[in-house]
Amino acid sequence: MKQVCVLGNGQLGRMLRQAGEPLGIAVWPVGLDAEPEAVPFQQSVITAEIERWPETALTRELARHPAFVNRDVFPIIADRLTQKQLFDKLELPTAPWQLLASEAEWPEVFDKLGDLAIVKRRTGGYDGRGQWRLRAGDTAQLPQACYGECIVEQGINFSGEVSLVGARGQNGETVFYPLTHNLHQDGILRTSVAFTHIHIEQQQQAEQMLSAIMHELGYVGVMAMECFVTPGGLLINELAPRVHNSGHWTQNGASISQFELHLRAILNLPLPQPVINGTSVMVNLIGTELNDAWLQLPLVHLHWYDKEVRPGRKVGHLNLTDTENGRLDASLEALVPLLPPEYASGIAWAQMKLR
Ligand SMILES: Nc1ncnc2c1ncn2[C@@H]1O[C@H](COP(=O)(O)OP(=O)(O)O)[C@@H](O)[C@H]1O
Ligand SMILES: [Mg+2]
Repeated sequence: MKQVCVLGNGQLGRMLRQAGEPLGIAVWPVGLDAEPEAVPFQQSVITAEIERWPETALTRELARHPAFVNRDVFPIIADRLTQKQLFDKLELPTAPWQLLASEAEWPEVFDKLGDLAIVKRRTGGYDGRGQWRLRAGDTAQLPQACYGECIVEQGINFSGEVSLVGARGQNGETVFYPLTHNLHQDGILRTSVAFTHIHIEQQQQAEQMLSAIMHELGYVGVMAMECFVTPGGLLINELAPRVHNSGHWTQNGASISQFELHLRAILNLPLPQPVINGTSVMVNLIGTELNDAWLQLPLVHLHWYDKEVRPGRKVGHLNLTDTENGRLDASLEALVPLLPPEYASGIAWAQMKLR
């Protein structure tokens, strides 16, 4: 039996395990402090659902394991400095940026980047954490520890956010899903929409950029690229060297989900282009208790992560897919009263995209 060990035991590892089951692939998500002896990694291909990890008995063992796919790519992407340097090296468009080394640089930063500066921690940020939106009068708010540990980039006045999820196989072939349209609120993904009909130019630009990145890194598996939509084309925001929240719709909206695609790529199994037959909407469940009433709606696929519910925490998602946008629209309308009020604007945004 094929075996895969996933470093990290959150929801992404759980969904990789679920995707492996029908294929006869045993997937073992493992926590960072698991006893190395208890993990069957000798017989496994190793992947990760996180980008960065502390030194533990387990990670020390895995770090020197030859079957750890993309092992040397993670540190490049986990540090926003080296990630941005990669975009520059490949001459790929990204939000203008620089390293923020000292307080003295602020006048020059605003000169160069404009009125709104977005400061981001080089490592460890997620869901909008480790980020500051600053104008010239606000820079004293930034903790001193940030200097040298952060990059600063131009605040982009984008018309929308999209992401491309794709995979590269061991032989260098690539496959991609259609671009996903994403709504973030306070830095956290709330809702995604993916269509069968694509904006060809945008799709091609995105595929060329992500291909160039994956080839440069010799990457194998699923990677996600988040972009801002601007009048001049796409700007890359950031990369994730793993399955991604904005690709969760593929569990129910594609013939091969991103989780299965990742397993196929790292195990050197066939990698055909996934078939997409309808429009998909994904609603992230954030800090919300499980509600059985969602299951009254036949189009709703519930994915519940079995985590303790805490404010701001991703605890599950709902996928809806249909070939008729009108039916999706009606389903979303029926979902609104079954969710807390803060979901209404994200669902209205998805409905607007469908119409
Ligand atoms: N340069 C920027 N200009 C405007 N908005 C931004 C910029 N960078 C990030 N954001 C907003 O913050 C969100 C989260 O930022 P991101 O860099 O993707 O960090 P995270 O790792 O938390 O996802 C983005 O999806 C976008 O909505
Ligand atoms: Mg992001």
